[in-house]
Amino acid sequence: MFEELEQSELGSQEYWDKLYKKEIENYKNNGDVGEIWFGEDIVDRVLRWILKNNIPKSHKIVDVGCGNGMMLIELHNEGFTNLYGVDYSEHAITLAEAVKEKYECNHIKYSVCDLLGENTNLEEFDVVFDKGTYDAISLSDNAKINRNKYIKNVAKSLKENGLLILNSCNWTECEVVEQFKEFFEVFNVIPTPQFKFGGKVGNVVSSVVFKKIKFD
Ligand SMILES: C[S@@+](CC[C@H](N)C(=O)[O-])C[C@H]1O[C@@H](n2cnc3c(N)ncnc32)[C@H](O)[C@@H]1O
Repeated sequence: MFEELEQSELGSQEYWDKLYKKEIENYKNNGDVGEIWFGEDIVDRVLRWILKNNIPKSHKIVDVGCGNGMMLIELHNEGFTNLYGVDYSEHAITLAEAVKEKYECNHIKYSVCDLLGENTNLEEFDVVFDKGTYDAISLSDNAKINRNKYIKNVAKSLKENGLLILNSCNWTECEVVEQFKEFFEVFNVIPTPQFKFGGKVGNVVSSVVFKKIKFD
């Protein structure tokens, strides 16, 4: 079992809007794309997993809560051609559009979308990628309700047998497996660095690949 996380400003849209407004200015002034959440290492690990598992380059992939969109730029650099990014902060999308222009990845499609909305219009994806967005939602007011809305909407947006690559630093592997089990089963776990404290071994980031099992 698990307990809900304590509510935090990282769970509010105001926080992200303010952050990305500032990051747009930084980007304009010095070309800094902003924070790479959870670090470069996790991006490399996920990319290696995607390549090793022969995910077709034409697969329809969406980064939910894409922020500056750097994960999609990395996927583009590996030859993926059907890439989408959504975020509820219009400022994140403005930043991601500016970054995409610099890297000449014009085929990446961005849109503003609240993952907790009644109709997200996200459909028929082969892969959903999340790095830190489920975490942010888990820190919101009414987190339990919001987590469940997210899980349902993500399941709805995937094709049958589609994959969700979930990267969390707030929840353990066991906790996400428990939380997602209504619609997903574990397909694979991407190894991430471990630490040992008081004899107990844990991971800094849990990186779990889920397969959608049903949706009704
Ligand atoms: C920790 S940041 C991670 C950003 C990006 N995935 C990355 O790794 O750089 C969390 C992101 O989730 C977005 N987000 C949070 N709640 C959301 C929601 N309900 N719908 C869409 N995006 C959301 C935030 O705007 C923010 O960009």
